[in-house]
Amino acid sequence: MKLGIGLVGLGRHGSRYAESLSKMGGKAELVAVCRRNLPEAERFAATWGAKKAYGDHKDLARDRDVDAVIVATPNSSHVEIAVEAAENGKHLLVEKPLGRTVREAEEIISSARRNGVKLTVGHSFRYHPMTLASIKFLGELGHVYLAAMCKRQPEVAGWRIDRRERGGAIMDLGVHLFDLTEFVLKKRPTAVYCQARQVLGSGVEDSFVAVLDLPGNAVAVLDASTISKSRTDRMEFAGTEGHLSADRYSREVCLAKGGSRISFPMTGPDATVRLLLDDFVDSIIEGKEPPITGEDGLEAVRVAEACYRSSETNSKVAT
Ligand SMILES: NC(=O)c1ccc[n+]([C@@H]2O[C@H](COP(=O)([O-])OP(=O)(O)OC[C@H]3O[C@@H](n4cnc5c(N)ncnc54)[C@H](OP(=O)(O)O)[C@@H]3O)[C@@H](O)[C@H]2O)c1
Repeated sequence: MKLGIGLVGLGRHGSRYAESLSKMGGKAELVAVCRRNLPEAERFAATWGAKKAYGDHKDLARDRDVDAVIVATPNSSHVEIAVEAAENGKHLLVEKPLGRTVREAEEIISSARRNGVKLTVGHSFRYHPMTLASIKFLGELGHVYLAAMCKRQPEVAGWRIDRRERGGAIMDLGVHLFDLTEFVLKKRPTAVYCQARQVLGSGVEDSFVAVLDLPGNAVAVLDASTISKSRTDRMEFAGTEGHLSADRYSREVCLAKGGSRISFPMTGPDATVRLLLDDFVDSIIEGKEPPITGEDGLEAVRVAEACYRSSETNSKVAT
């Protein structure tokens, strides 16, 4: 039997889920879609072969053909849509950030637990070849005392520059970096110092730099911005035995050890949504925990909240 998937939010990222589902074969199928603009939802359903289209997420949550719901809407609606789906017994894949606040993220986790449904979060960069290459070679570096990661990309608009949505570089891009720091280094930050700026004056922070204190006398220096017309996405690690860097756009990995330096091309697909979906569907079919848990999503939001507190008070704060 195929798992029935309901997709709420049919924009840029929702389309990626629909496309990935269309390639999943026997395990799962897109049975229902939803956005508030019903005619657009109907058009989307016709394009991707979903049987049903809804203009209200509560109707999709009640649909008996839907086993699991993907929440790919702007950040302010994650908690309402996810909780409604969980209360109707649907498994959950919620896009990042899990919630706009720690409180919202905790509400989603409690609801999933209470209703005995699986919950995973769209931290899809865990599956990116840049991340996988970093994990593969990290053991070569000895004691890793520094991680540096950045995500810089062009200006954004719409809900991404709306304060109520928690748009802005910290919550939109930073949560990826906070999650990757913990995922790659297996270390949870204890304190954060963050400076956030509005360079273009969009109404939300369009850049931030954060220094995360990590256990074992290590730090992570993270920055993200939506200012430049160019894109940069990099990870670097420095250890007692060597240095490692991975660059998403040049697709190059470089390992320096002692006097030697080797560079090689990054291998593996960029289509991370498909891999995330595969793991989510398998976790439901096989009755196991998804690799990315609700607590992982909560942790990234916790660091983001600490960044806001730090930048508002211009001081180092505990996470
Ligand atoms: N993991 C990643 O790498 C990644 C990448 C991109 C985005 N995302 C995340 O994905 C989410 C969506 O981003 P996006 O770029 O796809 O946004 P988007 O292009 O603006 O699309 C948002 C969609 O949600 C629908 N929507 C909004 N409010 C709704 C509601 N209350 N009920 C039902 N549908 C609603 C909108 O349609 P209507 O206006 O008609 O309702 C639209 O179809 C965000 O949380 C974002 O952070 C993650």
